[in-house]
Amino acid sequence: MKAKNLAVLGLQWGDEGKGKIVNFLSDRADAACRYQGGHNAGHTLIVEGKKLVLHLLPSSICHQNASSLIGKGVVISCEALFAEIEEIEPIANGILDRLKISPACTLIQPYHILLDQLKEKSNSFTTIGTTLRGIGPAYEDKVSRKAIRIIDTLSETKLNSKLEETLSFYNFLFKEYFGEKELDFNEVKDKNLEYGNKLSPLLADVSNEIFTMNKKNKRVLFEGAQGALLDVDQGTYPFVTASNCSPAGIASGAGCGPLDVGYILGVVKAYVTRVGEGPMPTEIEGSLGEEIAKKGGEVGATTGRPRRCGWFDAVSVKRIIQSNSVSALCLTKIDVLDGLENIKICTGYDEDESKKAFAECMELEDVNPSYIEIEGWPEPTAGINNYDDFPQKAKNFVEKIAEVCGVPVDIISTGPDDASTILINQEI
Ligand code: IMP
Repeated sequence: MKAKNLAVLGLQWGDEGKGKIVNFLSDRADAACRYQGGHNAGHTLIVEGKKLVLHLLPSSICHQNASSLIGKGVVISCEALFAEIEEIEPIANGILDRLKISPACTLIQPYHILLDQLKEKSNSFTTIGTTLRGIGPAYEDKVSRKAIRIIDTLSETKLNSKLEETLSFYNFLFKEYFGEKELDFNEVKDKNLEYGNKLSPLLADVSNEIFTMNKKNKRVLFEGAQGALLDVDQGTYPFVTASNCSPAGIASGAGCGPLDVGYILGVVKAYVTRVGEGPMPTEIEGSLGEEIAKKGGEVGATTGRPRRCGWFDAVSVKRIIQSNSVSALCLTKIDVLDGLENIKICTGYDEDESKKAFAECMELEDVNPSYIEIEGWPEPTAGINNYDDFPQKAKNFVEKIAEVCGVPVDIISTGPDDASTILINQEI
């Protein structure tokens, strides 16, 4: 039996190919909902032969029969949102009729972007390799209770008092700590009033929308951004993003009950990639890593930075499955491994008991990964959409991933378009 709702999330460091899968599964849902992150995400999909890169809009946006929801856990750059709407509208047609945004979303402000950039280039802070889009500082404001939320931009009086408090804090920081120019209050205020004007027709109580849809037996698909290893609580801290991108963030970010999620599909690449700084135990140094990166087109969809490549890390994936009730896996980009003589899967981090698992607060820099090796397959798998047509050795790889991770592989993706998808579990 199909679950009431479903979630599609990355289990690695992002860029697993979630966008394509959400677009593919949107036919089976009545709405898709982004619940965390912001325009740091880069979800690539192919619609009618055209490549689209979405940063803020849910990847269901081209589906005329599905609503697209943005929950309160998302931080919104109004400029980026409307630039994206303008770019995608000719293909998606009628976006403004289908898009609903929670008024509780935090707005990314000019001072968030400036602070993100100043911190990343300052020698006094650890360089994280952020997308420089103000995501971290916007979440900092949210938890320190001084965020400007969309709702605050609808009343000038309310905005004035909140902005005075917040901007005086930032201007002190810019001037006294960083030795930079202060931002002009009226300029920032006018921008915010404009944000309010533009966003107000799109506002809706997203939490209640989900509840009402579910009451009518309609399905919602929750779309994660980034990946579980970038989750601020479950990832490789401090080299993480500022939100809960694992399933744990769905309930708070979308506004549904934790038991309402139903089926959780963890998207994993057949290898791993990471963009930005931070440990990566299975990183492949040298020409093989470069070859995989080239074949896989491993360049950041948001920042254009090269992605580092490594072997599939079953230790971290197993840990994320264990702590996030992941139902099944979707394995993407398996075709990138076509033609390799041998393929490795990391199944352990060290002989030393204390370093064996992907444990809380574990220092990943000094682990010594152990691997199993699977024979590669010379035949191409790109574009195959029937599991029976898969080369036996590629099947062995898929089955080994399922075995070491302890959950089934329900979907395999063999290329960027919808046709290159194998739906193993028809019940999704
Ligand atoms: P931030 O999210 O811009 O604060 O960046 C924090 C870290 O998350 C950096 O290492 C980024 O490269 C990484 N990151 C943020 N968004 C994505 C994404 O969508 N895919 C992959 N990495 C991301």
